[in-house]
Amino acid sequence: MSQPNRIDRIACFIAGTDTGVGKTHASAALLHAFAQAGWRCAGMKPIASGCEWVEEAAGRGEWRNEDVEQLRMAGTVPVPRQLTCPWLLRTPCSPHLAAQAEGVRIEPSPIERALRELRSRADAVVVEGVGGFRVPLASGPDGWDTADLAVRLALPVVLVVGIRLGCLNHAMLTVEAIRARGLRLAGWIANRIDPGMALADANIDTLKAALGPQQIPLLGVLPWGLPAAEAATGIDFGPIAAACAADSNITETRAASRLVTEQDIAS
Ligand SMILES: Nc1ncnc2c1ncn2[C@@H]1O[C@H](COP(=O)(O)OP(=O)(O)O)[C@@H](O)[C@H]1O
Ligand SMILES: [Mg+2]
Repeated sequence: MSQPNRIDRIACFIAGTDTGVGKTHASAALLHAFAQAGWRCAGMKPIASGCEWVEEAAGRGEWRNEDVEQLRMAGTVPVPRQLTCPWLLRTPCSPHLAAQAEGVRIEPSPIERALRELRSRADAVVVEGVGGFRVPLASGPDGWDTADLAVRLALPVVLVVGIRLGCLNHAMLTVEAIRARGLRLAGWIANRIDPGMALADANIDTLKAALGPQQIPLLGVLPWGLPAAEAATGIDFGPIAAACAADSNITETRAASRLVTEQDIAS
């Protein structure tokens, strides 16, 4: 495939029906899909909680998070870890509590800066959210959560549904929450995380029937146990590209109308 031009560049936000449903796995599969299409791509985990100390040499090392490392391995553009994850927290718990424990408050600006930088270096950026769609990032009167983060980043959203008991309700609630914020839902990915689930196909068909008429296409089904690089071939990222193109058309139109206004004022 030819290299995308600026306007075709892709960035999307990966939301999940819950924690542990396969957001990282699906993000890695998407990155492999972009890489296999010849695009330069990078993953991003804006906030990660739960790290291990990795010793690189005697007395030297750094804190590492598994999601961050998986995304970095699936991407093709080498970038500093700070860009992949601007908020790396050590305690494996909700980010607002991990931040509290470290005496920091999670703010959006380092995330926005890192995303801008990643987008300037890669053709496709995949931003993995945290847990389900509404995970607190900071509490209190001016608190915020991951849904606010998705709005702030203004990226098309891809919903990863972990196909297990309860997923229909979780998926429908999450779709409602994403739509209620005016975000563009580019599609959903079915991830078979429970190999023993009864009637898994019927559950996927039920969601297809419910979400298809809402213009939320199924982008792919990730089989149980298949490595992300191989599962990538089953993903159609066309609808994500289309959503990004639609968004940049809107941005272009806004920019054009701003220009006209400035010229009008000048004349
Ligand atoms: N399709 C799959 N087949 C087998 N194991 C999977 C699959 N998807 C996810 N997993 C495993 O399930 C766990 C949770 O997946 P992960 O992608 O980390 O979820 P999340 O990012 O939503 O928390 C991980 O151990 C991962 O390797
Ligand atoms: Mg993850």
